[in-house]
Amino acid sequence: MKQDKILIIGAGGQIGSVLTEALRASFGNDHVIASDLRPLNNQTGPFEQLDALNSRALAGIVNKHRITQIYHLAAILSASGEKNPLWAWDINMRSLFNVLEVARKKNIKKVYYPSSIAVFGREAAPTNTPQFEVLIPETVYGISKVAGENWANYYFKRYGLDVRSIRYPGIVGHESMPGGGTTDYAVDIYHYAVQGKHFECFLRENTPLPMLYMPDAIRATLQLMEAPAEKVKVRTSYNLSGMTFTPQAVAASIKKQMPDFQISYAPDFRQAIADSWPGSIDDTHAREDWGWKPEYDLDAMTTDMLFHLKKQYR
Ligand code: NAD
Ligand code: SER
Repeated sequence: MKQDKILIIGAGGQIGSVLTEALRASFGNDHVIASDLRPLNNQTGPFEQLDALNSRALAGIVNKHRITQIYHLAAILSASGEKNPLWAWDINMRSLFNVLEVARKKNIKKVYYPSSIAVFGREAAPTNTPQFEVLIPETVYGISKVAGENWANYYFKRYGLDVRSIRYPGIVGHESMPGGGTTDYAVDIYHYAVQGKHFECFLRENTPLPMLYMPDAIRATLQLMEAPAEKVKVRTSYNLSGMTFTPQAVAASIKKQMPDFQISYAPDFRQAIADSWPGSIDDTHAREDWGWKPEYDLDAMTTDMLFHLKKQYR
């Protein structure tokens, strides 16, 4: 059994809930401490209720559990952030500084801090967006991730803190619901389909976005965190690619297995956010530096999503 003690902040979220179980399977239940602002039920290991804005409480938990790695997942995502920009900025940045500072002071071995495709804006190449591209995001969420990536790089260069990061595309999974992003439709659509309900999509039918299936996202995260430090050459955040699809393409993929599925389109404020993001990402650096390779394409993801959700709604 590995000896590390891992703290996950934001363990109740779409990614955190799945990542917690994956880390517990690898490190042992007692070695992975889940934490979240909200109380979480049915935990398979230790849980601490924690507001990541409270630096003293965070330090107390790090001391109590002799934490050696922190996964900082708590954030306000793109769509929620636009409803209250200063609140989103405050949570995203202050929680990150608390994590970086406690990690520096307590000699934490590794920190994981996810970034996002939201770091890109309309000035970036709209397809196959390169790793080192101009970053002028149009959401407060994207601005906070650009700043966060650069602070991660700063703590690495200045203090030698081993912070690692991936720019996740939109994550799709059957285990958990998304928490206020622009890519959320790609999870919701499957839930509507298996319940036999008509789905109204908040993005236009021909809006391409980079997406990634949850098992690939978890595998990429663990792979990056287990890579030897010298292989992690990008210390801001790695571009990561899985697949690209439009709402129309997901609907067509679902219809192959559920011909009666119906979709209509009613774009809202999230359309402008999606329009400011690239449709596809060049992840050559992740592939070359630490061996990233996605396994799921759209149809493989659809098959797996429908299989699991049909059981869930039975
Ligand atoms: P989520 O919104 O589903 O979950 C965030 C969790 O953080 C929630 O459980 C929430 O209760 C918790 N939280 C919020 N404020 C907190 C605070 N002050 N203290 C402690 N916990 C707090 O988010 P997610 O989709 O799981 O995303 C996790 C990370 O991955 C985020 O940093 C996000 O920016 C990034 N990311 C996600 C996606 C995606 O498609 N899900 C894509 C790109 C990047
Ligand atoms: N899925 C996220 C969002 O839409 C991307 O970071 O906000």
